[in-house]
Amino acid sequence: MEWIKVKNLEHAGKLVASQIEALVKQKNIVLGLATGSSPIPVYDYLIKSDIDFSNSISINLDEYVGLNQQDPQSYYYFMHQHLFQFKPFKKSYIPDGSNLNAEEVIHEYEEILKQYPIDIQLLGIGRNGHIGFNEPGTPFNSRTHKIALADSTIEANQRFFTNKESVPRFAYTMGLANIMQAKQIFLIACGKSKSPAIKALIEGDITTDLPASILQTHPNVTLYIDDGAASLLNQV
Ligand code: F6R
Repeated sequence: MEWIKVKNLEHAGKLVASQIEALVKQKNIVLGLATGSSPIPVYDYLIKSDIDFSNSISINLDEYVGLNQQDPQSYYYFMHQHLFQFKPFKKSYIPDGSNLNAEEVIHEYEEILKQYPIDIQLLGIGRNGHIGFNEPGTPFNSRTHKIALADSTIEANQRFFTNKESVPRFAYTMGLANIMQAKQIFLIACGKSKSPAIKALIEGDITTDLPASILQTHPNVTLYIDDGAASLLNQV
């Protein structure tokens, strides 16, 4: 696991977007996407570039259960606003949050993931070390599933909603085994609130208490972290 020190999210976005751009110039890719604050600058840079995704595929990590595509808080809506309306892909996949039949959603997503192995997976990290919505305790061999969001995740994400009560309690998410199948992974973490998770990820044990720690065993992971996120590391 390699890590690169960045000035801020914007700087991380520029570096990650240029890596994506370089690969898309060589071939049509399958790009694993994330939502939340961390990847927004990546999308801003991709929008400004002359990159063409019209022959590439995107697959998002997760979606809230119970929100339909028109809901401004849904990840579908987020992706449309931040990327797809400007840079359409040949096909973009996001779990269908409006379908409450979890078995059906999971089956469909697993078929998609089988059909399209991910070249690059973009990740943020939760304060509790989640990646996707794989909360602490999620088994490392997990595949797409429905998960109850941790309290700390609901609290962290309430900033996007009118209040805590309106944050959905469940999400569909790719599992840790799905994420580990990506050929290359870029994880972006900026800010002090991420420092305990980043310390545990870089210096701690591999444990389901910190789901992201499984990334230590992946052959091609790059972390983009700023001073705040790196502030608890022994070696900065
Ligand atoms: C979002 C996702 C989450 C976020 C994480 C960090 O699709 O899968 O794991 O990446 O919660 O969120 P931000 O970037 O908002 O701090």
